[in-house]
Amino acid sequence: MDDGALDLQRAAREAAYSMPLEEINPADPEIFRTDTLWPYFERLRKEAPVHWAVSEEKQVGGYWSITRFNDIMAVDSDHATFSSEPTIVLPDPEEDFTLPMFIAMDPPKHDVQRKTVSPIVAPHHLAYLENIIRERAGVILDDLPIGEEFDWVDKVSIELTTMTLATLFDFPWEDRRKLTRWSDVATAGPESGLFDSTDPEQAEQQRRMELFECVDYFTRLWEERVKAEPKPDLISMLAHGEATRNMDRMEYLGNLILLIVGGNDTTRNTISGSILALSQNPDQEKLLRENPGLIPSMVSETIRWQTPLAYMRRTATRDVEMHGKTIRAGDKVAMWYVSGNRDEEVIERPNDYWIDRPRPRHHMSFGFGIHRCVGNRLAELQLKIIWEEILKRFPKIEVTGPPRRVYSSFVKGYERLPVVIPARN
Ligand code: HEM
Repeated sequence: MDDGALDLQRAAREAAYSMPLEEINPADPEIFRTDTLWPYFERLRKEAPVHWAVSEEKQVGGYWSITRFNDIMAVDSDHATFSSEPTIVLPDPEEDFTLPMFIAMDPPKHDVQRKTVSPIVAPHHLAYLENIIRERAGVILDDLPIGEEFDWVDKVSIELTTMTLATLFDFPWEDRRKLTRWSDVATAGPESGLFDSTDPEQAEQQRRMELFECVDYFTRLWEERVKAEPKPDLISMLAHGEATRNMDRMEYLGNLILLIVGGNDTTRNTISGSILALSQNPDQEKLLRENPGLIPSMVSETIRWQTPLAYMRRTATRDVEMHGKTIRAGDKVAMWYVSGNRDEEVIERPNDYWIDRPRPRHHMSFGFGIHRCVGNRLAELQLKIIWEEILKRFPKIEVTGPPRRVYSSFVKGYERLPVVIPARN
């Protein structure tokens, strides 16, 4: 870390511990963009494990934060008290633009829709995907420039995960970068820099327009697939599935967004995170290079360390007491996985990136309970393959500057990560 970054971290620690507790707003995207979130969550875990904040963002308003590992697990496992409806992000849905998706549904509808797409990650399908992903990872890595700076996010993380996603949908190959764009747009706010204007209304207009283009495009694919025999791709599964074949346009769009964002941003940001974490921890990189058998453990540790989705929201269905606070029916509750993953009471040396730690899969990044991530094995597989292929090819990947982080307290990731692969002598 350079002096400027150290000063920023010091100032954040001072601010986090000196401001009145009720003024801490853990959903402020700025503390994620600057990576200064840690002391705020540390203080909440210690002093206010069930914490009320009011955000200035009008779609967010007041919300509870749950920050300790065991409390998050308890909330995530109790879907009767903590509902996933109407949405799993803090901003409420716009009344004239609601996107139903099964991650934001409760049983029984959730269960049948989830079951419809689950075969995409069945062990035999993962075994089939493994060969395809490996071949592509090889091509991507072999095409990288040597001895000159490039953006790892764009050239590797986005490329690999978008290719995998295109295969899951059996999506027209030449248009696959549209998936990346829709994935980014789906979760972006007006300040993200993704839209022509930062004016909230204009940005929202553009966002909706692009998402309608997305559903139009996918509707054409649906119409083709529904006439054909069922196939093992996500669109065919949705078009033929009993629980999904009568979805209306917005529900189709909602579930598409879920599968696009779920399969794309998260894995992408973990791939970029693995490069950053290893470059910041050269002893761990050395250990990995000397022991490639540690790749699966390193992958899990990176998923914990990165926590690509910082939180999931629930909505209380009844009044409930936790740590002396009363959460009222209808209140929003954020389960901060990013904080649970650093809970010093449960995780040994939580702030260390430690690739051979005992029980590396003991983390919360994939959630718990009935909504636990469908794609966890596929995410781990992509990470494992890219690292097996990297180790075969490059003795060093140097990070040459600070990453540019996403301005979001939900998707925790990177827009840019400059690197150089040094030429071999
Ligand atoms: C659900 C994280 C990769 C598809 C979730 C949840 C989390 C999560 C936190 C919600 C859990 C809850 O509410 O309890 C991640 C992370 C990933 C990843 C960290 C990568 C490192 C993927 C991939 C796919 C995927 C590759 C697609 C194939 C889904 C779906 C759900 C989900 C469909 C909704 C499950 C439900 O509501 O039942 N994921 N995910 N995810 N994820 Fe992932």
